[in-house]
Amino acid sequence: MSGQQAISRRKFLTNSVAATTAASLPITAMAQQGVHSRPIPGTNDYLPLVGSGSPDFFYTTPEGATNSAAAALVQTMYNAGGRMIDTPAFFRPNPPVLGQIIQDLGMQDDLFLMGKITVDGAEAAQRHLDLTISNLGRETIDVMMLHNLRDYENTWPVLERAKAEGRVRYIGISEATDRISNDVVEDFMLNHDIDFLMTSYSMFRPQVEERILPLAADQGVAVCAIEVFKTLDDGAYFSVTSGHELPEWAAEFDAHSWAQFALKYVLSHPAVTTSAIETSRPRNMIDNMGAALGRLPDAQTRSRMYAHFQSLS
Ligand SMILES: NC(=O)c1ccc[n+]([C@@H]2O[C@H](COP(=O)([O-])OP(=O)(O)OC[C@H]3O[C@@H](n4cnc5c(N)ncnc54)[C@H](OP(=O)(O)O)[C@@H]3O)[C@@H](O)[C@H]2O)c1
Repeated sequence: MSGQQAISRRKFLTNSVAATTAASLPITAMAQQGVHSRPIPGTNDYLPLVGSGSPDFFYTTPEGATNSAAAALVQTMYNAGGRMIDTPAFFRPNPPVLGQIIQDLGMQDDLFLMGKITVDGAEAAQRHLDLTISNLGRETIDVMMLHNLRDYENTWPVLERAKAEGRVRYIGISEATDRISNDVVEDFMLNHDIDFLMTSYSMFRPQVEERILPLAADQGVAVCAIEVFKTLDDGAYFSVTSGHELPEWAAEFDAHSWAQFALKYVLSHPAVTTSAIETSRPRNMIDNMGAALGRLPDAQTRSRMYAHFQSLS
């Protein structure tokens, strides 16, 4: 599997220098310690618990800038033990720049890459799939998902065929906050053979714990959590925690920041395989990757975390 290939020592050392420059934090120690990973159910493919979402500069080079900040971010994730990126969908006029960035870094075959179909119609979906794979400089992609179940009667067969042809290793669906109901997701899961579910899951939106996550566990579906810090606004979680001290008992499960508190809540759910967390800052990337280290809260502590967060909101 491309995303699971061992890192060569030469690449690791080269990358370590670049990311140390980028963030001046003990990431080498972090990678050596080893971030926790979980298997995609029924396979020997292991994913680190934390991966990267797609900040704006993965889509477009900022005006008057180069792609160096985006490259530093990818490098930082890699050196901290991260291997997974939820790549930008093709919904803007220009192709995303991430593909070129990972090829310039020589990393495209070392990463576990996910993509999404965000168009209607079989032909457009096929074009979307082809563009996504070629933009990443690969022959295949690890995961391709249908976003918000768009036009699924016509677009899902495109994914099934691509999997049968070996161009996509895992297929699934993705959904963002309340764009489609849990009933629709559940119905789709019960009637289609999916490998992956990307779902909005956080202390703001724990409802997926009721039926969706147990169903994923029952069916052996891998789960990638997104929008861990979000309600309808990006980063809304931090406006709730702002000005509050992290409780001392967070140290009992090795959470050292509010970001790690939110992440460890989500990652400690047994049905969750990984997460795609969006940040544009290497420092925050390291913070987020840190949630994949150390202990995770048990069920009783998770209830305490949820109650504590509610008391702040
Ligand atoms: N939202 C959607 O519609 C949607 C749809 C499909 C897929 N996704 C996937 O989900 C990913 C997650 O995106 P999201 O929109 O749900 O956002 P999110 O990951 O819940 O939160 C992102 C926000 O949190 C901030 N942040 C990240 N780490 C932080 C830290 N350690 N400390 C403080 N602030 C931090 C970021 O700001 P900084 O940049 O300043 O760190 C950004 O404002 C997307 O990139 C994409 O891959 C999202």
